[in-house]
Amino acid sequence: MKTVKIGICGLGTVGSGTFNVITRNQAEINARAGCNIEITQVGARRDNPNADTSTTNVTRDIFEVVNNPEIDIVVELIGGTTLAKELILKAIENGKHVVTANKALIAEFGNEIFAQANAKGVSVAYEAAVAGGIPIIRTLREGLSANKIQWLAGIINGTGNFILTEMRDKGRTFEDVLAEAQALGYAEADPTFDVEGIDAAHKLVILASLAFGMPLQFDKVYCEGIADVSPEDVTYATELGYRIKHLGIARHHESGIELRVHPTFIPERRLIANVDGVDNAILVKGDAVGSTMYYGPGAGSEPTASSVIADVVDLARMLSADPENRVPYLGFVAKSLQEHAIMPM
Ligand code: HSE
Repeated sequence: MKTVKIGICGLGTVGSGTFNVITRNQAEINARAGCNIEITQVGARRDNPNADTSTTNVTRDIFEVVNNPEIDIVVELIGGTTLAKELILKAIENGKHVVTANKALIAEFGNEIFAQANAKGVSVAYEAAVAGGIPIIRTLREGLSANKIQWLAGIINGTGNFILTEMRDKGRTFEDVLAEAQALGYAEADPTFDVEGIDAAHKLVILASLAFGMPLQFDKVYCEGIADVSPEDVTYATELGYRIKHLGIARHHESGIELRVHPTFIPERRLIANVDGVDNAILVKGDAVGSTMYYGPGAGSEPTASSVIADVVDLARMLSADPENRVPYLGFVAKSLQEHAIMPM
């Protein structure tokens, strides 16, 4: 069997989960990819006690990974947008395929990154960038590809949902739950991204780009987080038969696409009102399929790794196939829909 060599950059929450799941489930993963997937090198500024890399080639210089001529796929899990962008563009320049979980990078610089990848004939895959372990990128790209998407709406920030759930069920304070979300590895390095709605806005523009075939336009999202939701708000919502949920909403209108993230009151009998803790759920309405809902863990080490590895498997399958049959995996911009204006807010 052919061997596809990967380099993992970053050994934090998601990097260590990716390393551990590949190592643990190597046989199943190889069988599904139809080739051997080998972790050839790991680039990490420091060791992580949660991942035993003692028998792996580890470098402190992450650029060594993207410049390693042996490596076919670079898995970018360092986060942030400055170094990560440099790293990914270098990987593309070196002709490597890329897997990333970096929603901020895709939302803010995806158009440029996809253009470079397209020019170079390599793929950039980002299943793990939205909704942790839920395969929502694949669902929009493949499962719902027959549909005109009318709207989508979802709980797409696990930390925020965890905070709202614990405030409601246990009367805990915002700060206390946020500290726990950080300790559990759910929160962003800068948790204001979670509580101010920025992380959800990043994810929403990625979903909208796939659902509506439009360029990524992060600057066009109306963005409001949960930082101002008080314990009284949560209590009143419960008394009135509602749940407060932070939603990302994208809707197709004749005049353009509406994009917004903000807290909402949802009647407690609705399925999505009962999505609690770190879980995420996304409702997607297509003209052919009708209403659908996708549910699962929205953050965390191994759930996110599950999505990272799904991309690695897809790319490895493609790389081990006949070169004539390779289909690059890229961000999706349907030319016919590019003229969609974004609705003024
Ligand atoms: N901080 C993010 C969240 C991580 O809580 O949803 C997963 O994207």
